Amino acid sequence: MNKPPITELIQSHRSTRTFKNIEIPRDIVKEIIVSAQWAPTSHNVQAYSIISITNQELRGDLANLCGNQKYVKEAPIFFVFVADFYPHSLVSQWEETPFEMEETENLIVGAVDTALAAQNALLTARAYELGGVMIGGIRNRAQEVAALLNLPKWTFPVMGLCLGYPQDVTEQKPRFPFYGVHHEDCYNRENIISALNEYDKDMLHYYSTRQVNPKYTGWITQMTNYLSSPRRQELTMFLKNQGFQMK
Ligand SMILES: Cc1cc2nc3c(=O)[nH]c(=O)nc-3n(C[C@H](O)[C@H](O)[C@H](O)COP(=O)(O)O)c2cc1C
Repeated sequence: MNKPPITELIQSHRSTRTFKNIEIPRDIVKEIIVSAQWAPTSHNVQAYSIISITNQELRGDLANLCGNQKYVKEAPIFFVFVADFYPHSLVSQWEETPFEMEETENLIVGAVDTALAAQNALLTARAYELGGVMIGGIRNRAQEVAALLNLPKWTFPVMGLCLGYPQDVTEQKPRFPFYGVHHEDCYNRENIISALNEYDKDMLHYYSTRQVNPKYTGWITQMTNYLSSPRRQELTMFLKNQGFQMK
């Protein structure tokens, strides 16, 4: 079976973290943002804003706030994808209707809408031969990011996206076995155990043989390390201050 070009594009994904020093033409940047807007959106709320940042100094500050991730500064463009209910707060004010934003549901709606838009942006960028990496580090110091970008109440940064023309083409990172992700009719726990063992070996092989930054652990150690300490604990307070009470 011949794969359609869009399938090839999706399945050739890898994150890109090194970029040529070439500016991205403005019309391509616009296409990327327009494509982000064509993502499906919960109840048509379109609860996101996209801030594009080319200013070197600002990107330097953001790179620091993202945990000194140098590609935030080095990529020719950095986007911040912001979950955004600020416009919705205005219309509720105008119409003098209640603004029921305090429950967890809207937080999820905002994060999901924003992520779908960001993935559309990345795929469109790749169609123009760009590469990129998403940056969850934007939530490391969300309060400071919000101040730097002048974010209003009812918003929060969900992810960043570095884009540029790739300097190096890296190997693809293996994915969890198909049978460990796809379940038929009901959840199959037995598949998970064999998939975990198989994937741990695949990842050990990938990490230990890759050209850049080889590592000598498998996926299980990576995940247990990642999950064994709390992360971004200030985020809850930040979100509450932004209006999301998560009731
Ligand atoms: C929401 C999100 C946040 C991410 N944050 C970061 C980040 O802060 N820094 C980074 O280097 N990569 C980040 N990544 C990239 C992941 O590490 C990467 O997608 C994953 O390891 C799989 O590798 P691949 O994209 O090359 O297939 C993020 C990816 C996603 C989807």
